[in-house]
Amino acid sequence: MKVLVIGSGGREHAIVTSVKKSPKVTKVYCAPGNAGIGQLAELVPIKAMEFDKLADFAKDHDVDLTIVGMDDPLVGGIVDVFESKGLRVFGPRKNAAILEGSKAFSKDLMKKYGIPTAGYENFDNPKKAEEYLRQAKMPVVLKADGLALGKGVLICNTLEEALDGLKEIMLDRKFGDSGNTMVIEEFMTGREVSVLTYCDGKTIKPMTSAQDHKRAKDNDEGLNTGGMGTFSPSPFYTKEVEEFCENHIFQATVDAMAKEGREFKGIIFFGLMLTEEGPKVLEYNARFGDPEAQVVLPRMENDIIDVMEACIDGTLDQIDLKFEDNAAVCVVLASDGYPVAYEKGFEISGLDAFSGKDDYYCFHAGTALKDGKFVTNGGRVLGITAKGTDLKEARQKAYEATKWVDFEGKYMRNDIGNAIL
Ligand code: AMP
Ligand code: GLY
Repeated sequence: MKVLVIGSGGREHAIVTSVKKSPKVTKVYCAPGNAGIGQLAELVPIKAMEFDKLADFAKDHDVDLTIVGMDDPLVGGIVDVFESKGLRVFGPRKNAAILEGSKAFSKDLMKKYGIPTAGYENFDNPKKAEEYLRQAKMPVVLKADGLALGKGVLICNTLEEALDGLKEIMLDRKFGDSGNTMVIEEFMTGREVSVLTYCDGKTIKPMTSAQDHKRAKDNDEGLNTGGMGTFSPSPFYTKEVEEFCENHIFQATVDAMAKEGREFKGIIFFGLMLTEEGPKVLEYNARFGDPEAQVVLPRMENDIIDVMEACIDGTLDQIDLKFEDNAAVCVVLASDGYPVAYEKGFEISGLDAFSGKDDYYCFHAGTALKDGKFVTNGGRVLGITAKGTDLKEARQKAYEATKWVDFEGKYMRNDIGNAIL
């Protein structure tokens, strides 16, 4: 079986690593991929938003299954293009990927179907939004409706900050059309948990839980990033919380989408906050999280191809999803200055240290090959994952492994997983 994976981050490196483990797979392509993925798969120099070129490639190369890792192509309708050409593809269609593509849509869906989430109002008129903010209780959360590279969420402690945020999103249009509509949401407090799930349109099967660390600096200070590190499972995701989520959030979401005529096949990533009133949805994503995938996928025991095919075929109820009874921690090595300004092109040393070590993974995110050498090529450069018998051991091993590699401007958080200690 030939598989094409679309994307170029640490998440896609983790997906390709899982795909390669399947005995059914004879060939893996990745478009556009990165230097690390290039060691496992044949890289295809087509960008993720070039749907027709990608579909033509899949047809010409007899690709049996395409897996879309990234949000932009899913929200843009890549699955519809592939399906219209008779190609098999894993991921939601455009009318379902809107679950991530429009926060206003997802909030309205949750309200309509009674799925627990923060109180909110949607605005497409900046004057109305301003009036609302002037009488709102602070802090408030402002969210650009559309995709914004994980940066379209502003937590505002004062009215002044909120009015500045409103200006940024709706008037200065910092996130372009994503700011045509803005969600103003009640501020919640609690612990965050990410639960990624597989869905076939009717059945939903949760994977093991994880927790991300979104802020750039230790102690959750600094700017929001794509994610600086993860651990899995989350000890805060107890049996009781899990039961509540399965009964009131997960299945309810899939059923709601089906009722709306937006059958969801693929990954639903539930960003949850465990509030005093119970778990509530912070956000939905329509794909694996990054770096959540880098701790969840190495722990999955199933053949990923079987699970993804069951999602496409509507037979997920027949899959017994299994995870190893251990733990994993991922520490992201970033370029100093991320997520704002940083330099690229520095040589990365020490990568060989990972070869032959079963419990350790070095997932490439922003890397490239230059004169036969690995160099930095992005904000998040590598995701260093280690598995251990428990979270404490996994954490200690992951931090140990961060010392094996080096590059100029290497930056990481030193408190990934501190919450579990
Ligand atoms: P999102 O992209 O919607 O997950 O938002 C990014 C981050 O902003 C989340 O991971 C939370 O840390 C924070 N956040 C989003 N919505 C809220 C909210 N209603 N209350 C408190 N924090 C929030
Ligand atoms: N790590 C959060 C995300 O992938 O959106």
